[in-house]
Amino acid sequence: MLSPKERSMISDNLLEWFPRNPPIYDIHKTYVENAQQGPFFVGKIPQRNRVDTGKDFLGYPIASAVGVPAGPLLNARWVKLAAELGYDVLTYKTIRSEAYPAHPLPNMVYVNTCGMLSAGASSSPVTLVDAPSSYIEDLAVTNSFGMPSMSPSFLQEDIPKAKSYLRKGQVLVVSIVGTERQDLSFTEDFVRAALLAKECGAPIIEANFSCPNVDKKAGCLYMSPEVVLEMGSRLVKAIAPIPLIIKVGLFSSKAGLRDVMISAAKAGIRGVSGINTISRSVVNDQGVPALGATRLSSGICGGPIRKEALAFMQDAAEINVEEKLGLTLIGVGGITLPEHFSAFFQAGADVAMTATGMMWDPFLALRFHNNIRKVACT
Ligand SMILES: Cc1cc2nc3c(=O)[nH]c(=O)nc-3n(C[C@H](O)[C@H](O)[C@H](O)COP(=O)(O)O)c2cc1C
Repeated sequence: MLSPKERSMISDNLLEWFPRNPPIYDIHKTYVENAQQGPFFVGKIPQRNRVDTGKDFLGYPIASAVGVPAGPLLNARWVKLAAELGYDVLTYKTIRSEAYPAHPLPNMVYVNTCGMLSAGASSSPVTLVDAPSSYIEDLAVTNSFGMPSMSPSFLQEDIPKAKSYLRKGQVLVVSIVGTERQDLSFTEDFVRAALLAKECGAPIIEANFSCPNVDKKAGCLYMSPEVVLEMGSRLVKAIAPIPLIIKVGLFSSKAGLRDVMISAAKAGIRGVSGINTISRSVVNDQGVPALGATRLSSGICGGPIRKEALAFMQDAAEINVEEKLGLTLIGVGGITLPEHFSAFFQAGADVAMTATGMMWDPFLALRFHNNIRKVACT
């Protein structure tokens, strides 16, 4: 029987964080409190063993193909910590052309999805639970933030600061989105956000196309090959020569994904990142909407979306080869263990990223780099 001290030493060697420590994003605090006071990481950062050389990501050398997608990196301080923790492709959270508030609490709650989510069963709600699964591969949360953004003047200082924290072999992607406004079309405002990111010195820009179309009945932007071609071309032209990635969600068919990828390549878009969260209605044990009457559904992320995310990546990689598109593919969705990064690489991803996984287990990248696959059984 090991003493608590011995057990703690084993855990430290194995770089264990979850479930002994809380997530670095405090879900009980507001978005602004997390931005101002977070990330909530304590302790020393262990040494990284492996650095790959010779990898390229859209013209930038990277020390590994492991990263963080749009969302968890709220500002330069969050980027700094993620860079120190060995995440090499770092996405600065989605910004808008003007400041925009977050939804009120709750923004994140734990859910029970009863296993992996599948694209087809979109009508079945998932239920709110008090605590996460003790197995991180099953960790499931929902998030509903409304894509808040700081003001352009804040971003003009903070994005260069975020870049200054990066080490050799690391690169920053800045995620952008358009906002519906009275005086400008949605596309024009999207271009404004892109130009703001460019002005802030973004090396690579990602357009979040997994947001609703202005015509809500038309679904999300990424679902339409015409929108991807038209809006993508506008953005590519506005930010040239900065590479543009688009962020997409799940497709209902491989044919739909094929049409969109062909449009993306035609527009001069250089990369496709997917998937975003999978939308579901979330209810409490009484069947009442868990996030209130105005937010009946929200995005599910974490372990249960990995199966669909991997299937997406496999399809995207096949299409990329079959159609000779030359797109860079970024795999996202459900990565909560080091071996999940490898599964995405095997499926064809050039880069694999974790959002929920890194928030609940910040050592995920280091365990991948240091080849620690097993957790202690004490
Ligand atoms: C806290 C949080 C905030 C997010 N915000 C954004 C966002 O602003 N823009 C975006 O494109 N995706 C956003 N996402 C989606 C993630 O980039 C990712 O696609 C999704 O969470 C699936 O990955 P995961 O299972 O590793 O969490 C967010 C995710 C989380 C967890």
